[in-house]
Amino acid sequence: WLQVIRLLFSMQLCTTLTVLGLLVTGSQAQGLMPTISLPPCDSPEAEAAALVAQGFLNTQHTHGYKYVLNQIDEIKIVSGPLQADTYHLELDFLETTCHVLDPTPVSLCPVRQKINTAVEADCDFVLANTTQGLSVVAFKCKTETESEGGCGGCLQLVPLNDTDGLQLIETSLDHFNKNNPLNTKFALLEIGRMESQIVSGGPRYFAEYAIIGTNCTSQDDDICIPQNHTVAIHGLCLAEGSANRVNCKIFAPVNTTLLLHINAIQLL
Ligand SMILES: *[C@@H]1O[C@H](CO)[C@@H](O)[C@H](O)[C@H]1NC(C)=O
Ligand SMILES: *[C@@H]1O[C@H](CO)[C@@H](O)[C@H](O)[C@H]1NC(C)=O
Ligand SMILES: *[C@@H]1O[C@H](CO)[C@@H](O)[C@H](O)[C@H]1NC(C)=O
Ligand SMILES: *[C@@H]1O[C@H](CO)[C@@H](O)[C@H](O)[C@H]1NC(C)=O
Ligand SMILES: *[C@@H]1O[C@H](CO)[C@@H](O)[C@H](O)[C@H]1NC(C)=O
Repeated sequence: WLQVIRLLFSMQLCTTLTVLGLLVTGSQAQGLMPTISLPPCDSPEAEAAALVAQGFLNTQHTHGYKYVLNQIDEIKIVSGPLQADTYHLELDFLETTCHVLDPTPVSLCPVRQKINTAVEADCDFVLANTTQGLSVVAFKCKTETESEGGCGGCLQLVPLNDTDGLQLIETSLDHFNKNNPLNTKFALLEIGRMESQIVSGGPRYFAEYAIIGTNCTSQDDDICIPQNHTVAIHGLCLAEGSANRVNCKIFAPVNTTLLLHINAIQLL
């Protein structure tokens, strides 16, 4: 519901801008001057461009979580006679609970709740509409965390070097390595977040971390080397309180050729 209300609000804002936009374009000489149009934020062009930006944002990262489009704050299309139209967008994204390595389509990923300290990203994107379609030429994002602070039993984020949190990750991963049905030892790839909650009897810890398959089986007592990213299986684990309360979701290998390709894009 909040999302719907926000969208309505932003549509109003954009409609106001559209009127101004028509005035600007109308008074401009037709011909060689680039023209600027400000289509409504709920127009098909705006939505198509925002979805391309969302797809880009989620394949651009090799760590962290996927982001879902929350609202289009502004769109401006610059058309010149000799070049492709460029789209300038101001977009607002919310962090989901799906890791970037998770193949679940972002539309099916739950948004992280504010009570769990959500992350929001405000981004500026520039896209070009060429004969090949829309592509991102530049982007810049800034993230901020939002929480509903000041509640007694709430989960609080703790720094990623927190000793008790790291201990939970180590023991729970060890437990998973000895007991997983894939008979594979995994290595820690990255820590997503660590939280603590004050309950009677002391703090209780929660950890989310990504893992990568190694060349060892569960029984091997050897040097275990993470497999090449392109062929490795990955996973996202949620551990809670004690070592044996760990739940890992395992993902098939990703093709990182695409990721490497996309990383060549310029940052605003
Ligand atoms: C891109 O340009 C083509 C025509 O060149 C147009 O048909 C299409 O709607 C444009 N795409 C978007 C998303 O506006
Ligand atoms: C965690 O990192 C912060 C700053 O980087 C440092 O001040 C703090 O001492 C570290 N804590 C531990 C437990 O290593
Ligand atoms: C994994 O690879 C490393 C480095 O190549 C090697 O030393 C180790 O023996 C391998 N482990 C297993 C169980 O094959
Ligand atoms: C990992 O895969 C890439 C691409 O397939 C390859 O170029 C690279 O040599 C591989 N690295 C290792 C350590 O096998
Ligand atoms: C990875 O993706 C690239 C580009 O789409 C493709 O050419 C390549 O065959 C893919 N590799 C694998 C192992 O799927």
